[in-house]
Amino acid sequence: MIIIRPALSTDITEIIEHDKRHMKEPGFNGSLSHPFLPDHKFDWDSRKTEKLLSWSRPITEEGWSRSFILTEGEKVVGHIHLKNLFHGTLHRAQLGMGLEMCVRGQGFGKKLLMMAIDWAKSEETLYWIDLTVLDHNLPAKKLYKSCGFEECFTWKDRLRVGPHIIDDTVMMLKLK
Ligand SMILES: CC(C)(COP(=O)(O)OP(=O)(O)OC[C@H]1O[C@@H](n2cnc3c(N)ncnc32)[C@H](O)[C@@H]1OP(=O)(O)O)[C@@H](O)C(=O)NCCC(=O)NCCS
Repeated sequence: MIIIRPALSTDITEIIEHDKRHMKEPGFNGSLSHPFLPDHKFDWDSRKTEKLLSWSRPITEEGWSRSFILTEGEKVVGHIHLKNLFHGTLHRAQLGMGLEMCVRGQGFGKKLLMMAIDWAKSEETLYWIDLTVLDHNLPAKKLYKSCGFEECFTWKDRLRVGPHIIDDTVMMLKLK
């Protein structure tokens, strides 16, 4: 059974295992869906420690983050996170998300995104959600627009990942 819920610190190991699988998978039509090559070497232990620390921070404090997950049994198969970038942007949250291929295209992305938006709306200090999406990622852009995100501008040649030259699109949602 698929469940969508806020992540707990006890989910961290399964979340990292999901991240490892997800980072190797292709995106829309075989393209990249994140700015890393499938064989990119991550420091998983540091990612784990940083995530746990950022989850423990109040959202009025620099470096906070919150995650929501899609689980199938014990396994985490999708995630969305909201996080602070630096002190001057504490009224905003930067969003990132990803579902493993086995659960894409079934409406779960939209449910996960709505849960994160509802949470952000209920937080008094948050006024905006920001994100960047690789411009060729049509399903993701469609999903964000259907949940009210406005496409602001496309940053030409923002990313160079291995042989790929990628335009990045900035989108945002006003919460209140
Ligand atoms: C992009 C992603 C989050 C979308 O989640 P999803 O569960 O697959 O999408 P949903 O089934 O909820 O559908 C959301 C919308 O996208 C559309 N969509 C989904 N797959 C699509 C596809 N392959 N082509 C075109 N549109 C598609 C749906 O029609 C739906 O639009 P609607 O609400 O107007 O009907 C998911 O596919 C994913 O994680 N992809 C890989 C990682 C990624 O791209 N992350 C985003 C980084 S910014």
